[in-house]
Amino acid sequence: MSAAPKIFVVGATGMLGGQIVQALLDQDAPVRALVRPGTSEEKLNSLTALQADGLEVVEGDITDPAEQLAEAIGDATTVISAVQGGPDVIVDAQTNLLRAAEKAGVQRFIPSDFAIDITKLDDDDNVMIGWRRQAARVDTSLEVVSVLNGAFYEVMTGFMGLIDWEQGTLSHWGDPDQPLDLTSVPDTAAYTAAVALDPTATGTLRFAGEVVSMRQFHDAVQRGSGRTLRLVNLGSADELRAEINRQAALTQNPFDYVALQYQWCMVTGKAKFDTLDNARYPQVTPLPLTEFVRVNAPAL
Ligand SMILES: NC(=O)c1ccc[n+]([C@@H]2O[C@H](COP(=O)([O-])OP(=O)(O)OC[C@H]3O[C@@H](n4cnc5c(N)ncnc54)[C@H](OP(=O)(O)O)[C@@H]3O)[C@@H](O)[C@H]2O)c1
Repeated sequence: MSAAPKIFVVGATGMLGGQIVQALLDQDAPVRALVRPGTSEEKLNSLTALQADGLEVVEGDITDPAEQLAEAIGDATTVISAVQGGPDVIVDAQTNLLRAAEKAGVQRFIPSDFAIDITKLDDDDNVMIGWRRQAARVDTSLEVVSVLNGAFYEVMTGFMGLIDWEQGTLSHWGDPDQPLDLTSVPDTAAYTAAVALDPTATGTLRFAGEVVSMRQFHDAVQRGSGRTLRLVNLGSADELRAEINRQAALTQNPFDYVALQYQWCMVTGKAKFDTLDNARYPQVTPLPLTEFVRVNAPAL
């Protein structure tokens, strides 16, 4: 039997959560993963395929009554949340999970932060980060450890909409020399597992696979993909702010413009990490951005 403390992971069927489970199992840590009732066979199979030994799957939802959720948490000593959603999930349901963790006698809680430096922003700079900042203000007897990773490589080369492979462009706002903190999803998961298994980890810990300016990002994407992309400046950071305000006035759905809010927080340097904690965990060797692009760029 493993002597490592048991970790309860919520969001294990998600993009980051599944990788966190894998990273914990790689360290021989026993994991209890919460999955929602009605989870598809496909999602369940990909979770249980990670590794049979050391992984226990329990059914539940973090909106379940806290007593019921506390039973699911059982004897775990740390809870990691990798949920995603609106304020109902990030503020209300995560607070319910926190209360359940307190009831279960958990020691540490790692909330679903995994972002740029949320401690340096104002609540209304970015709607999704505002919810995380709100959740962080909830009183608790537990030790809360926040893991921050900047932006995922996967998001910078995908969801953010910066790269147009067909047009051969990489677009950005603001100063092309402003440093940005970036990390891949698997490396974020590896750092999160390292934090969860490190009894001395406290407070907010900040990690980056690479710190690059947009000019260096452009260079890495070109070298990794072997393709030439024209670097297009879409405007200043103030013009980006004006564009966010324009889009926000047109929609009730903040997810329509949140990618621009992330870019504003990054290109202004407001959410830049002042220090990195990578050196705490030298066993994690982050993937170079160029290598990530080499493997993941779409075929010509
Ligand atoms: N820094 C970055 O660039 C970046 C980019 C993307 C995400 N993130 C962060 O990474 C974290 C995870 O995001 P993700 O993209 O991996 O999310 P995701 O793929 O959407 O997965 C979310 C997970 O949460 C679970 N979940 C949602 N509501 C739940 C509930 N009420 N009870 C139990 N489980 C629930 C989902 O379960 P089901 O499978 O049942 O739906 C799923 O497993 C978030 O904090 C997100 O903001 C950071």
